[in-house]
Parts: sequence; structure tokens; C-alpha cells
Amino acid sequence: MKTQVGIVGGGPSGLLLAHLLHLKGIDSVVLEARSEEYVVDRVRAGVLEQGMVDLLDAIGLGVRMHREGLVHHGINISFNGTLHNINFHELTGRAITVYGQNELQKDLNQAHRQTGRPVYYEVENLTLHDFDSPAPKIRYRYNDSDHELECDFIAGCDGFHGISRPSIPASAIQHFEREYPFGWLGILAEAAPASEELVYTWTERGFSLFSMRSPKITRLYLQCAPDEDINQWSDDRIWSELLRRLTTKDGWKPNVGPILQKGVTGMRSFVAEPMQFGRLYLAGDAAHIVPPTGAKGLNLAGADVYALSQALAEFYKSGSESLLGEYSSTCLRRVWRAQRFSWWMTSMLHVFGFGDDTAFDRRRQLAELDYLTSSRAAMTSLAENYVGFPII
Ligand code: FAD
Ligand code: DHB
Repeated sequence: MKTQVGIVGGGPSGLLLAHLLHLKGIDSVVLEARSEEYVVDRVRAGVLEQGMVDLLDAIGLGVRMHREGLVHHGINISFNGTLHNINFHELTGRAITVYGQNELQKDLNQAHRQTGRPVYYEVENLTLHDFDSPAPKIRYRYNDSDHELECDFIAGCDGFHGISRPSIPASAIQHFEREYPFGWLGILAEAAPASEELVYTWTERGFSLFSMRSPKITRLYLQCAPDEDINQWSDDRIWSELLRRLTTKDGWKPNVGPILQKGVTGMRSFVAEPMQFGRLYLAGDAAHIVPPTGAKGLNLAGADVYALSQALAEFYKSGSESLLGEYSSTCLRRVWRAQRFSWWMTSMLHVFGFGDDTAFDRRRQLAELDYLTSSRAAMTSLAENYVGFPII
């Protein structure tokens, strides 16, 4: 089989890239290790930056997002039992949209299906070959037989644990990494959101986040150990800890309801540089991971694949490799800004240790939160980074 761009991974990066290329008349084949249901059902991101919303609108994929997504004009920061609102709209003229990654993935799958271009699910033993030449190949097993896909380029959109990044010779790629001594325990609950906007909460017991998916579904997270055993957390224990952390002095608290899904996520910051080797281009979580506190991962993935689609379109139109040559540095500028922001939000809001030795850091965090919520300059800086920088 032959195509122009072989795409490894059918998550948001892979399918959005396939769609952007389709709109430029460029052929692609998507190869995904998991089933379509698995990819859609994974509960992950929820916040789309204005730039991502603008991108989806520009390619005609924003209809359901506008109908069902929730536009938020700001967020709340809570500490010492008091909520402080940061109004993005007033500070930047921009907003965010809460729309589950599952829903976006459904929209991408449906749009892609209509293009008639193939996505192969549940491929196995995928390996990359000859991507330092003009004729890369992807070998894989599908339906119990071996296949080879010949292509001009490979897009590694296969997430942090994928095969693309490790296929690059170690001497040609540098990794920058930070792990955090905590994770997030996240739940989806059948309960009407008790606040119209997100609440990021600092407490002595650790961070907690109130978010939502729809007018009937609340999404909540609490800081836990990185290797927390979810089986140790009964629904009652989860609710009691969430209520302890989130309830404010004036009595605001999330509505309680049946827990529909729960899981633990580790936290890390990671960047691979450059995001390219020969004719293999990395995009999204395959190239970088941010701790989720800044809600940046999915948005960075969108910005990467937009840049890659533009570069490939220029190549196929004129033969010029100029944008392809700039791909990594173009993406990395945004990636490092998002890394800084996500690290900052994470460091400000989480408890790093629970001994006396961190008492100074706790006071410093409170001073930072006090400054953030009382200085227009500080609030504007958060707002500008949270709503994100334009993608298109
Ligand atoms: P992935 O979604 O990981 O997709 C990669 C795909 O490649 C997968 O489907 C995988 O099965 C496939 N694959 C892997 N290996 C192979 C292989 N060898 N062969 C073929 N296929 C392969 N981001 C935000 O912007 N906002 C948020 O609010 C936010 N919240 C988050 C909350 C949580 C709890 C988590 C875990 C993440 C959150 N993120 C958020 C991050 C966001 O979910 C990711 O950045 C996003 O999924 C990245 O998309 P991707 O397509 O690059 O990678
Ligand atoms: C959600 C996740 C985040 O990481 C975040 O910062 C805000 C919201 C969410 O899943 O809704």
C-alpha cells in the first residue's frame, strides 16, 4: 500500500492531521493500535483554547462543539476557603470552551470517515523504516497478516508511550524532563455542576479541581500519590476528600452524585528536541507532555498538527522544504511557553511534600496566590496564557 503521509496514532493529533491534510488534497493512512471505541471512551482533556476553537471552526468541525460545548469567560482560584474569579474575557477579550476530548474525538472520527480515507484500528507490531531517506516505510500486522505502507513522510502522532519517538536514534534527539511527586485522581460524576466556571483549589491537604462536561456531568480531580491505588478509594472516600478540599467558607461545594468513572494520572513535564528526524515528524504527546494543571496538552497537539499540515501543503504545492525545516522550532516556541505555564500553575497549586520542611513553600504559595488574585497584571498574565496564543 502507498500513501503520501503515513500517520501513526488515531488520537486527536493523528485524526486532526489526517483531516487537515485531506482539506489540502493530501492523502494519508492512519494506523492505530487500539480499537475505535477505546480511543473515543478514554476520559481525558476538557478545555479547548480559543485558538483551537478557531481552528476547528475554520475546518468546519465546530458545529457540535458550539452546540454542546460550554463557553467559559474565566476560572476561579480558591485558597483558604475563598473563591477568586479571574475574568479572561475582561482581561484578554478571549474565552475557553469546555468540550470533552471524547466528543472532539467522535467529531474527528465522523469527519474522517466521510473523507473515505482509511483508518486501520488494532494494528500490531508497528515499526518504522527508512525515514532518513525519501522513501519511508511503516510495517505492521493487521487482521493476522503483515503489511507495508510506503509513504513520503511519517507523522508520529502516537502519544507519549508510542513507537515513533523511540525509533529516532538516541544521538539525534534530546529529552528534557521533570516528574512530580504526585498524581491526580479524577472522577466523572452524574451531578449538575455547582459552579458555572472551573475552580482550581489550593489546600493544606493538596490540590483539587472542579470541572464539568455538560449541564448534568461534573468532572473532579484531587491530588494524590503518583502510584495511588484507585482500589483504596471507595466512592465515599473520594467524595469526602473532595468536599473537604473544595468546600468554601461561604458554603459553596460541588453537588454529589453517582461516580461514573474514576482513574489516576501521573504528572510529568517532557519535551523531545528536535521534533523531527529525516522524514519522521513528531506531533502532540509523542513529542511533549505537560502536567494537566494548565489544560494545554490537547491544544498543543492541535497547534503542532496545524503547523505540520501547512508545511506538508507547501512541500506538495511547490517542492519547498522551508516550512518543514522550521516545523520543530515553530512548535517548540509554543511548547516551551506552555511548559513554563503548566509548571508554574502546578507548582503554585500543589503540595510538594507534607513535612515541616515545606512550611516555607506553603507560605510562599499563599503569597503568590494572594498576589495573583489581587493584581490585574498578574491575573492578565494567567489569563493570556490560559486562553492561549492564536494557532491559525
Ligand atoms: P494520544 O491521545 O495519546 O493519542 C495517541 C494515539 O496513538 C493513541 O490512540 C494510541 O493508542 C496510539 N498509539 C500508541 N502507540 C501506537 C503504536 N505503536 N502504533 C499505533 N498507534 C499507537 N489537554 C488539554 O489540552 N486540556 C485539558 O483539559 C487536558 N486534561 C487532561 C486530563 C487528563 C486526566 C489527561 C490524562 C490528559 C489531559 N490533557 C489535557 C492532555 C490531552 O489529553 C493529550 O495531550 C492529548 O490526548 C494528546 O493527543 P495525541 O493524539 O497527541 O496523543
Ligand atoms: C480539565 C482538565 C484539566 O487538566 C484542567 O486544567 C482543567 C479542566 C477537565 O478535564 O475538565
